[in-house]
Amino acid sequence: MLAEVSKNVFLHASQNKALNKAAKKWGLRFGAAQVVAGDTIEHAIKKVRELNEKGLVCTLDHLGEFVSSKEEAIEATQYNVRTLEAMGQAGVTCNLSVKMTQLGLDIDRSFCVENMRRILETAKKYDNFVRIDMEDYAHCQMTLDILRELRKTFDNVGTVIQAYLFRAEQDVKELKGIPLRLVKGAYQESPTVAFQDKAQIDENYMRIIEEHLLSGTYTAIASHDHNIIAKVKEFAHKNNIPRTQFEFQMLYGFRTDMQLSLAKEGYTMRVYVPFGNDWFGYFMRRLAERPQNVAFALKGFFSK
Ligand code: FDA
Repeated sequence: MLAEVSKNVFLHASQNKALNKAAKKWGLRFGAAQVVAGDTIEHAIKKVRELNEKGLVCTLDHLGEFVSSKEEAIEATQYNVRTLEAMGQAGVTCNLSVKMTQLGLDIDRSFCVENMRRILETAKKYDNFVRIDMEDYAHCQMTLDILRELRKTFDNVGTVIQAYLFRAEQDVKELKGIPLRLVKGAYQESPTVAFQDKAQIDENYMRIIEEHLLSGTYTAIASHDHNIIAKVKEFAHKNNIPRTQFEFQMLYGFRTDMQLSLAKEGYTMRVYVPFGNDWFGYFMRRLAERPQNVAFALKGFFSK
């Protein structure tokens, strides 16, 4: 009950425009620096380099919420282009994750697609890959439609499927051949479209992971759940799925010991590294997911 209340409070805070805007001026606070890798490209690349040296590969995410004008979307696009260039020039092992609302999806669909094309062209130049993060259900169909459109020209783009959605299994079947990141799902969705029960979500999660792995398509399993990770390892072993066909992914600052031990065991372990001054919404969603994370937020709060 208490966990449900705190989840709702953090999810509401994550959607509060005024708080998100104010937080941009605060600098990383409340322990956010433990899960956000600094506010500039330079900080982020430095962290990525450190992680690479430990045997971890990365994906960078330039944080950005509530983009409501074309100017903001163009700025975000340019920032993503610069991030790809900086990664290429630094020679780090890292790809890029982007959210399409940041590129103007809610403003003008074709303008957003053009922005995405610019990013993909730059990625192509550096032989790099771009993952379109999946946002809330309201954007799901649009995201998948745009992905299909982009895949006609670009083979260096994939997206994310959320296991809590009833449609997930069908989507995974239809997206066979396209590299997918599979997750449980981070947003609050209606019971008309999404499982609400943890056991059902976990069951559907394993179902879509197995489906995508058996299809022979490259699969990223993005989870901090040791039970899921153990099941994936066992399933891959039993079904002779080579380690080159999948990777594990975790968020920066979460279960660092497990990240390192998976890399040591020879699995590809990719760390999702968010950066930028628009950190508040991301941080609130992480607190909503796992009340235990509040402990380090409070520690960060009192150490300021
Ligand atoms: P979950 O939170 O269900 O935890 C299961 C169990 O694992 C816990 O009960 C606990 O035992 C253990 N555990 C979990 N976290 C732990 C920790 N920090 N320390 C110790 N034990 C822990 N979502 C989305 O909607 N769209 C997206 O694009 C993405 N992208 C994305 C990328 C990456 C790299 C990751 C890791 C996650 C996402 N997500 C996402 C978020 C995802 O949907 C999901 O909300 C979170 O990963 C939480 O679910 P988990 O599978 O990690 O385990």
